[in-house]
Amino acid sequence: MAKQVHIGKTDLVVNPIGLGTNAVGGHNLFPNLDENAGRELVRTGLANGINFLDTAFIYGPKRSEEMIGEVVKESGKRSEIVIATKAAHKFAGNEIVVDNSPAFLEQAVDEALQRLQTDYIDLFYIHFPDKDTPKDEAVGALQQLRNEGKIRAIGVSNFSIEQLKEANKDGYVDVYQGEYNLLAREAEKELFPYVINNGISFIPYFPLASGLLTGKYDKNTNLDEKRGKFFKKDLFEATLEKIERIRKIANDKGAEVAHVVLAWYLTREAIDVIIPGAKRSEQVLHNLKTLDIQLTETEIQEIDQIFNS
Ligand SMILES: NC(=O)c1ccc[n+]([C@@H]2O[C@H](COP(=O)([O-])OP(=O)(O)OC[C@H]3O[C@@H](n4cnc5c(N)ncnc54)[C@H](OP(=O)(O)O)[C@@H]3O)[C@@H](O)[C@H]2O)c1
Repeated sequence: MAKQVHIGKTDLVVNPIGLGTNAVGGHNLFPNLDENAGRELVRTGLANGINFLDTAFIYGPKRSEEMIGEVVKESGKRSEIVIATKAAHKFAGNEIVVDNSPAFLEQAVDEALQRLQTDYIDLFYIHFPDKDTPKDEAVGALQQLRNEGKIRAIGVSNFSIEQLKEANKDGYVDVYQGEYNLLAREAEKELFPYVINNGISFIPYFPLASGLLTGKYDKNTNLDEKRGKFFKKDLFEATLEKIERIRKIANDKGAEVAHVVLAWYLTREAIDVIIPGAKRSEQVLHNLKTLDIQLTETEIQEIDQIFNS
């Protein structure tokens, strides 16, 4: 069994390589998703040591949670799997709005429990901040749900540093999920020091910069066919050069670019676990190989510098 780690100060113990499942049923986020491939990649992960799944109401919406619920149930291993989900979005007519009110969060947890076919959620996040709700009140509502046994740990995502401080006034926040990768390192400035000092675990999203940091693209890639901010021409081209330097480190270790990139995140003090996403089972298996490599102190610093220049 792979080494297991605690997520921050929680009693959640997991393989440090988890699985992001926004492409499992996330039809509103990605075109032409194949649900069978989605179910299969979750099964593959579970069969190969992954025990931490990250989903959300808005992936689908609802469909990702439903599919995770199905696959976890069929596995018969609910008690061995740590499920994280998130909510805050709600439909207001045709619009989707964000609501952090205690009443809505309670309702959102109850509805997520149904879709996930479970009676507790291991880690529940407020997915995005709203404008009006005091953040300590929102988290206070989650603490109440923790006391009732409906959730085991509390997370917030996409909060500013000020919102995080307000949310954590009573020390109830266990996990912060935010964007972080070698191309987007803003979180290092204020969020990392705060989470480290307050026993909060930082879980980075977009760790592979939507696939760019796997090293699978080159100068012939047709960027018109790629969606997302990491595929803007200037950033893309500058990143290809840096990736070639990472490839050299990877080659020397008999590994591949994605493994070196993912392993580097696990050397950050603020980070205990990562949740790379996947669209196919092979990608899940590939990302798990990260656990086979160990970066030296010199390599860690070199990677830092390559992406700081
Ligand atoms: N809290 C939030 O607001 C928030 C926001 C975004 C994401 N998230 C969470 O964070 C997770 C991770 O983010 P993400 O999935 O959007 O981005 P990511 O992890 O940076 O990239 C995942 C994508 O990279 C490609 N990929 C993954 N492994 C690969 C491999 N070994 N070889 C080649 N390509 C590979 C796949 O896309 P292709 O096959 O299309 O290249 C996959 O869908 C999500 O799944 C979600 O659970 C949270």
